[in-house]
Amino acid sequence: MALFLDTGDIGTIKKYMKMGLVRGVTTNPTILFKEGVTGGIGGVKKKCNEIAKLINPFPLSVELMNNDDYTKMIDEAIELSKLGNNIIIKVPFHGPKGEMDNIQVINELETKHKIKVNVTAMMSAQQCFLAAMAGATYVSLFCGRINNMGYNSIEELTKLRRLLDAYQLKAEIICASTREVLNIIEWLDAGGHIVTVVPKLLEGMIIHPYTKETVQMFLDDAKKIDQSNKSEKK
Ligand code: E4P
Repeated sequence: MALFLDTGDIGTIKKYMKMGLVRGVTTNPTILFKEGVTGGIGGVKKKCNEIAKLINPFPLSVELMNNDDYTKMIDEAIELSKLGNNIIIKVPFHGPKGEMDNIQVINELETKHKIKVNVTAMMSAQQCFLAAMAGATYVSLFCGRINNMGYNSIEELTKLRRLLDAYQLKAEIICASTREVLNIIEWLDAGGHIVTVVPKLLEGMIIHPYTKETVQMFLDDAKKIDQSNKSEKK
C-alpha cells in the first residue's frame, strides 16, 4: 500500500492519483473543516462520497463525528460505511475523557458488521497492539505527535511491527501526523505498512534542486546537439 494522502482536497487527490502515487486517503474532522465542509454529517457524507468515488477501489478513511455513546457511534459508523465499498471507519482508540467504549465499538464493527476500522489518535505501540487485538484493519500511530512530545516514534514503530508480526495480527500500521519529508521513508523503513502523507511533503519528496539542475544541463546539451545537426545539414 505504502502511501496514503492525508487530505480532503479533491484537486490535490486528482493530481497525485494521475501520477499513480496514491493508494488511499485519510481524513478527519479537522482536515474536512479546513476544506470548508459544513452542515454536519450531511456535509461530511457529501465530501467523502466525492473522494470515495474518485479513489475507488483504494480506501478512504472517514472519522466518526461523535464520541457520545456506544449505540450512536455504531449507528454513525454504519451510516458512513454505506458511502461506498472502499470506506474505512476511523474510530479514536478511546474518548476525550478516556472512555473505553470505543474499543468495543471497534470490535463490534469489525466482527459483527464486517466494517473495516482504522483506529486513530494512538500515541504508543501498546495502544496500537490492543487496537489490533480488538480486530482493527488499520492502526494509526501518530508518529509526528509522538516526536513532538519528545518520544521516539521509530522505537514505537519497530516494536509495534515486531509484535504484530509475531502474534500474526492482521492490522496494518498507518504512520500519521507527518511533519517532515524525511518522515515518509524513515517510517516505512522502520516497519510502517503505510504512511499517510500531507500533500506538501509529497511534493518535497519529489522535487530536488540538484535534479532540476541536472535535467537543465541535459536539456541545454540536447539543444546544442540539435543545433549542431542543423548546421551540419547546411
Ligand atoms: C491521519 O489519519 C491523521 O488523522 C492525521 O495524520 C493527523 O495529523 P495531525 O497530527 O497533524 O493532526
